[in-house]
Amino acid sequence: MRIDVVSIFPDYLAPLDLSLPGRARASGLLDLHVHDLRDWTRDRHRTVDDTPYGGGAGMVMKPEPWGEALDEVVSTGSTSDEGRSTSDEGRSTSDEGGSTLIVPTPSGVPLTQALARDLSTREHLVFACGRYEGIDQRVMDHFADRVEVLEVSLGDFVLNGGEVAALAIIEAVVRLLPGFMGNAASLDEESHEDGLLEYPVYTKPASWRGLDVPEILLSGDHGRIAAWRHDQRVRRTRERRPDLLPPGPISD
Ligand code: ADE
Repeated sequence: MRIDVVSIFPDYLAPLDLSLPGRARASGLLDLHVHDLRDWTRDRHRTVDDTPYGGGAGMVMKPEPWGEALDEVVSTGSTSDEGRSTSDEGRSTSDEGGSTLIVPTPSGVPLTQALARDLSTREHLVFACGRYEGIDQRVMDHFADRVEVLEVSLGDFVLNGGEVAALAIIEAVVRLLPGFMGNAASLDEESHEDGLLEYPVYTKPASWRGLDVPEILLSGDHGRIAAWRHDQRVRRTRERRPDLLPPGPISD
């Protein structure tokens, strides 16, 4: 998979060299490129924002640098540069269909495990990290005619920009790449894979600060342990995330 990230703070993406994405890059599963949006500005001040039409607080990211950046980045990703052609307007018209443009924003569709799984099957992800009040809507509207555009939210809270959200989405996606995680079973068992939260986990010592590991986990009875864990998952989900539970009783 190839991932391109465009941001006015490319240094924010430095953690992608570490940990899971870093390993995926080292193993060749992930080809990652981070770009500075200001490289596509044309004025002396490298301006990327302006006041909003219609008034209101804050600044909006200008469409021109985003347009030029994404023209280039979207078309480089999905296939090799060979066969790239150029339209009358001077725009690349190579096989852009394999690219998905992701714009992190609090007004996007929620990131779910199902969406992360879907994204992990894509050939090329391009992240457009906005700042300020967001990116001029015409950028998303324009690219929606050329590639799939997904405005994605991490949740019902507001970050200062899309970079941290892009990091989170990339980590959620990259760990699902085939051949990436050593233990595939641990992927199937985790929270959100089947609509329930994960059961509580324990390790040695069996007693710590007066707190004991639940007796059943020491019993060696795998059937009872599995039933207990399922029960814990249902309880937890009911308490913390009742919105995840289907209506009616939960089967065992
Ligand atoms: N940018 C700012 N806030 C965000 C959020 N909650 N999710 C995704 N991108 C964001």
